[in-house]
Amino acid sequence: MSVLQVFTFPHPVLTQEAKPVARFDSELKQLADNMLETMYAEGGIGLAANQVGQLKRLIVVDLRNEDQEELAKPRPERHREPRIFVNPSLLDASGETVTEEACLSVVDFTAEVKRAQRIVVGYQTLAGEAREETLEDLAAVCLQHEMDHLAGKLFIDHLPPLKRQIVKRRLAKIAKLAKSA
Ligand code: NI
Repeated sequence: MSVLQVFTFPHPVLTQEAKPVARFDSELKQLADNMLETMYAEGGIGLAANQVGQLKRLIVVDLRNEDQEELAKPRPERHREPRIFVNPSLLDASGETVTEEACLSVVDFTAEVKRAQRIVVGYQTLAGEAREETLEDLAAVCLQHEMDHLAGKLFIDHLPPLKRQIVKRRLAKIAKLAKSA
């Protein structure tokens, strides 16, 4: 397993739409494993393939990765709950919840985002088996955030237009400075 590079705003791969996964082979399994390793290394609770430069409809999630008690444990004692969603699609959404969101691809910025509180998601396993699952609260929010990535969207795209413009300009400027430093 290896830790992959996470692309950050304004990299164009983050604005592109991921394509459905058609081959459920060892290459897909390896990409999922590497994405999990990358997510653990970066301390995120979810990662979409776009973020590592792969336009595939593949998401990895581990909600325990933000649990501070869990993070305080020495690595071998941590209890991981990795989840993998291939070709996820939103089948139903209801309710409303507002969460302070962050993203490994949006450096040093968080914002409140309103999303559905409960969703039903259809997806496939790494073996290509079709599944359906109801998710609520943080799990639902996380999946919606990651599915946005697959559609080429970031959580900052949910901000009101003027604020979005200001934030994107600022983030682009910071990225440019970091590059030239
Ligand atoms: Ni993200």
